[in-house]
Amino acid sequence: MSSSIQPQLPIGIFDSGMGGLTVLRALTNKLPNESFIYLGDTARLPYGTKSQDSIVRYATQVTKALLRYQVKCIVVACNTATAAALPYLQHTFPHLLITGVIEPSAEKALQATQSNQIAVLATETTIAQASYQTTLRTLNPQVNVVTQACSLFVSLAEEGWHHNDVALATAKQYVTPLFDATPTIDSVILGCTHFPVLIPLLSSVLPDHVHIVDSASAMADTLQQLLGEQQLLLEHTPDTPPRTTFLVTDSPTRFANIGQLFYGAEISPTAIELIDLQ
Ligand code: DGL
Repeated sequence: MSSSIQPQLPIGIFDSGMGGLTVLRALTNKLPNESFIYLGDTARLPYGTKSQDSIVRYATQVTKALLRYQVKCIVVACNTATAAALPYLQHTFPHLLITGVIEPSAEKALQATQSNQIAVLATETTIAQASYQTTLRTLNPQVNVVTQACSLFVSLAEEGWHHNDVALATAKQYVTPLFDATPTIDSVILGCTHFPVLIPLLSSVLPDHVHIVDSASAMADTLQQLLGEQQLLLEHTPDTPPRTTFLVTDSPTRFANIGQLFYGAEISPTAIELIDLQ
């Protein structure tokens, strides 16, 4: 697949906006030698309430844009785009390694569960696409999967309301009915880029025995393995320091301000390029 692709090229990664910076952060921690080109489709966010047709169209445009920047692979950081468009992208760009966040998270949850009762918290479209449910049950037909669309978590995360009274009430409202109905759930997948910043909140609401699987760190382990298998991993420190480039389709200033909540570090607006996908 990758014979003409050089390991020195950057890794392309995309999301509907800034939530995917949680995934970028996990990837840069895991793969410190690598350079990244991150594309946030901020003009069209959120993806989580859009139809599959729209997301396939957006994801195709984003992939073509990243290819113009010469990347060695593409990570679909957005759970919604993975659920709605990953098979289409893999079919449409067969010579490119394109990978998404759902399978790595499903594998981690299956490793963690002892009761075979797994909950998935995600956006409306991710749940409606049933990719988590299908992937988990394909990997282990014994598993029971319960789901909850948690659209308000996206707004709370972007607002920086990660642990106040509103966030707490919202988390209880989403999560309590799941555990009332299925008390034996012992693994919860955070199937949305925004949710890792809510882990302290969710830990305070979920029963103590529950294992939280976040798709960002699951993706980092899988990407390292996939790049290694395809001889695309940068094994040595590169001659020039690794670089992360940010591309957005709307307001670099807003991306920089809100993005730092997810990236865990400052992003200078001057490091962000505004691009047009049309
Ligand atoms: N990035 C999306 C996801 O992981 C969440 C935000 C959105 O709805 O666009 O599903």
